[in-house]
Amino acid sequence: MTHAAKFWDKVAPKYAKSPIKDMEAYEYTLGRTRSYLTAQDRVLEVGCGTGSTALLLATDVGRITGTDISPAMVGIAAGKAEAEGAQNASFDVATARQSAQSAAGYDAVLGFNIFHLTEDFDGILTDLQRNLAPGALLISKTPCLGEPSIGIKRFVFRAMIPVMRLFGFAPFVRFFSFAELEQKIEAAGFDLVEVSSFPAISRYIVARRRD
Ligand SMILES: C[S@@+](CC[C@H](N)C(=O)[O-])C[C@H]1O[C@@H](n2cnc3c(N)ncnc32)[C@H](O)[C@@H]1O
Repeated sequence: MTHAAKFWDKVAPKYAKSPIKDMEAYEYTLGRTRSYLTAQDRVLEVGCGTGSTALLLATDVGRITGTDISPAMVGIAAGKAEAEGAQNASFDVATARQSAQSAAGYDAVLGFNIFHLTEDFDGILTDLQRNLAPGALLISKTPCLGEPSIGIKRFVFRAMIPVMRLFGFAPFVRFFSFAELEQKIEAAGFDLVEVSSFPAISRYIVARRRD
């Protein structure tokens, strides 16, 4: 098992019990995302965690598959799907890169609070571009801890996270700025359809696979 999978397995039970910190921002993201999805869509959510978002969106789409590197997260998500009787939602253990490599056939790929945690974001984008059909959507929300507009906080994150990581209290984290994140998505072959920042530290991006 990889270091990341072990880290997220360990935090999964606590993560499952934690309330959403900013409900207004969460509802905003959910609402904007719903507005792009249709009842026929086949949807993939990478880094789905305990499956709460996928299960909320399941009623709006044809079928949703959630994947996550952590077997413990996936186990919790699958348990919730069974308890709710969700017929069109399923959950599998896979890295975001593995999921991107088998993303053919999906109408939309979602990634919430995940891409800053991946060591191979460029590869994920390349694989998504290669496997998704033209017009497919990539909908993401990403904390950007290197964003200049967040001010002094970005220096605090840069100083603290490596130390926390050393003691096993933090996973791998990338320090994106909004501009860097958007540039990578565009350079990989996606057109930006919508961008916003709510809460201020996170970038919500809807992008469409170019023809
Ligand atoms: C901060 S949580 C976000 C979970 C959920 N998307 C949400 O917004 O609540 C990050 C999730 O990404 C997963 N993760 C971390 N690195 C990953 C990777 N390389 N591939 C797939 N999942 C990953 C973790 O196991 C965890 O469930």
